[in-house]
Amino acid sequence: MKELKITAKIDVYNYEELNSDEKKIIEEAKCASQNAYAPYSGFKVGAAVLLDNGEIVTGNNQENVAYPSGLCAERVAMFHACSVFPQAKIKSIAIAAFFNGDFVEKISPCGACRQVLVEAEKRSENPIKILMFGKNEILSVESIKELMPLAFKF
Ligand code: THU
Repeated sequence: MKELKITAKIDVYNYEELNSDEKKIIEEAKCASQNAYAPYSGFKVGAAVLLDNGEIVTGNNQENVAYPSGLCAERVAMFHACSVFPQAKIKSIAIAAFFNGDFVEKISPCGACRQVLVEAEKRSENPIKILMFGKNEILSVESIKELMPLAFKF
């Protein structure tokens, strides 16, 4: 028997260490969170996608009384971006979440959104940087591979 150990490289930034594109999509994600439709959880998530054509496309979680019918902010943003700019490549995505009157310290994409990020990265033929906003620090990965090793491929 041999053992495989999987490690992830997570970069931890202060807001001031980010470049202007990174700051911009974080601000857009924070702003988008305020328009989330989250009457059931009260957990308002915003996401902003930066495309290689320079466009920024945002999304937020959209809940439904039939709970599984709702959708996370990350997928709303990515699907929105791909529907409007099908030829563009996604370069990065920022995520921020607002709960009980403040932005939460840690937010990371759920499993289903990670699966969609895997496909988006494959489609973009480039790694997608993921910025996870926190009030004190911003976690960042250079590729979804860090958050979803051994992803399903067909
Ligand atoms: N949610 C997101 O939009 N993104 C995440 O990364 C985690 C969870 C949403 C789903 C649901 O509307 C609410 O947050 C509470 O789970």
